[in-house]
Amino acid sequence: MEKAKKIKKVVLLGASGGIGRQLAERLAQRADQLLLVGRDESRLRQAVKELGESPAQLDYRVLDMRDRAALEQFAHNLEADLLINCSGLASLEQAANLTAAAEADIWQVNCLAPIFLMKQAVQSGSCTTFVQLSSLAAICPHPYLAAYSASKAALHSYCLSLQEELRQAGSAMKICVYTLGPTQTGILPQQAAAALGGGGLQLQASAAAAGILKQLEKERTSAVIGARYRLLVCLMKLLPQSWQLGLLGHYLRKGLS
Ligand SMILES: NC(=O)c1ccc[n+]([C@@H]2O[C@H](COP(=O)([O-])OP(=O)(O)OC[C@H]3O[C@@H](n4cnc5c(N)ncnc54)[C@H](OP(=O)(O)O)[C@@H]3O)[C@@H](O)[C@H]2O)c1
Repeated sequence: MEKAKKIKKVVLLGASGGIGRQLAERLAQRADQLLLVGRDESRLRQAVKELGESPAQLDYRVLDMRDRAALEQFAHNLEADLLINCSGLASLEQAANLTAAAEADIWQVNCLAPIFLMKQAVQSGSCTTFVQLSSLAAICPHPYLAAYSASKAALHSYCLSLQEELRQAGSAMKICVYTLGPTQTGILPQQAAAALGGGGLQLQASAAAAGILKQLEKERTSAVIGARYRLLVCLMKLLPQSWQLGLLGHYLRKGLS
């Protein structure tokens, strides 16, 4: 990590979360400026305090991505060499039982807000590299996580299309989409994490953060993080989709409260 290239200005969305907080730790060692963004001010303030000794100049910004006016303001002021979006919302629930409000929040945070920010960044040229975190749930539909799975799939597909448009236009801006499998964070309630094999089988957030930065260093625009999840993606391609759905549904159902 010490030998990694210095980055001037990094903006980290979802910096208070499991993977975001781990990325903050690493980026604070190699960025000149690091802006931590999240919803919960006390967690952001705490993170800035804990990272206070690091070389980067640190600051934080409170942003609720459901607040359209705040999002517009944030996009208007955005300026970054690297933006990594680690924000995300999931709800383990039978699809038909998810309230309209919870459904709207999931689509806004996981899909519409990131798309809005990417479009603004493309139009204004305010960000050089924009990284979105995707999920195995984007590649393979997850019963009982239907809104999460579908919103991540929509974001994933949008990123790949925009990435190609920018490449064909010879744009200096790069969109990266990195896919993660189950990782030990608080995004799902404990019983859901246990249904997916528990902590032992999941990637640690620190390993996910290291994997993301490794792919960035290799200048990959699309990657699956972690050897075991790369293998899993290959195996999934061999299984009929009905089997994948049945297996995932069987395990995730156990996580319903
Ligand atoms: N963990 C996994 O198993 C896994 C697997 C595949 C992909 N991913 C993806 O990895 C990314 C990071 O997830 P994580 O596991 O680190 O989850 P996490 O610990 O729950 O962190 C999620 C982050 O999103 C922020 N957030 C939620 N709602 C927000 C809102 N309305 N406005 C602004 N920020 C909001 C949270 O901020 P507050 O703390 O302030 O609420 C938190 O910083 C997500 O995109 C997730 O989909 C995770």
